[in-house]
Amino acid sequence: MSRHELLQFWRKHHPREPGIGVCNFNLPMIRRAVEQIGAPIASHQLEYHPFLSQAPMLAYLRSKAIPLTAYAPLAQGRAANDATLAAVGRKHGATAAQIAIAWLLDREGIIAIPKAGRPESQKANLDALGISLDEDRAAIAALPKDPALRSAAICTGMGCSRVSGPCLKGRRIEGLSASRPRDAA
Ligand SMILES: NC(=O)c1ccc[n+]([C@@H]2O[C@H](COP(=O)([O-])OP(=O)(O)OC[C@H]3O[C@@H](n4cnc5c(N)ncnc54)[C@H](OP(=O)(O)O)[C@@H]3O)[C@@H](O)[C@H]2O)c1
Repeated sequence: MSRHELLQFWRKHHPREPGIGVCNFNLPMIRRAVEQIGAPIASHQLEYHPFLSQAPMLAYLRSKAIPLTAYAPLAQGRAANDATLAAVGRKHGATAAQIAIAWLLDREGIIAIPKAGRPESQKANLDALGISLDEDRAAIAALPKDPALRSAAICTGMGCSRVSGPCLKGRRIEGLSASRPRDAA
C-alpha cells in the first residue's frame, strides 16, 4: 500500500477522527509523517519537563501547529524535590511540582499529562493552571538537562518498542492545556 493509499484508507475508516496521536517520534520520523505521508497529526507525545530540552522538536511542532503532549512532566516525581523549582514555588505560594507543570502549561502549544494517584496531588496539579511564572521562567529553563532521560524515550521504528509506558497512538489526547502565546526554551 502506498503512502497515499494508506492515508486514504485511514480517512475512509476514521472519518470522524480529527487526527492521529503519535508518541516518541524523533525529528526525521515526525517530518516524514507530516511532510511525506501528509498524516494529520493531532498531537505528538514526548517526555518533556524542566530537566529535558525538547527545543528543536518543539520549534518544529509549532511550525506545523501540532501540540506537544508532555508525558512524565514531573520527571516521574523528581521535580517535586528540586531546590530551584521549590524556591520559585515559594514566591508563588506553590509547590515545586506545581511550578514544573506551570512551566509547561504557560507556553504555546504544550499539553501536560502528569500522573497523580493521590487526590491532593491531583488537586495541586489542576491548581497549577492558575500560576503565571513571568520572570521566573528563565531560571527554570536554565536547570541542568539530563540527556540520558531522552535517550530512553525515543523509539527505534514507527512504534514505541523501547518505551515501557502506554502510548496514545490513534486515540484522543486528553491532558492539561492552558497554552498562551509566549515563550522561550
Ligand atoms: N507515551 C509514552 O511513551 C509514555 C511514557 C511514559 C509515561 N507516559 C505517560 O505519562 C504520564 C505521566 O508519566 P509518569 O507517571 O511517568 O511521570 P510524572 O507524571 O512525571 O510523575 C508521576 C509521579 O509524580 C508524583 N506526583 C504527581 N503530582 C504530584 C504533585 N502535585 N506533587 C508531588 N508529587 C506528584 C506522583 O505521585 P502520586 O501518584 O503519589 O501523587 C508520581 O509518583 C502517565 O500517564 C504515563 O502513562 C507515556
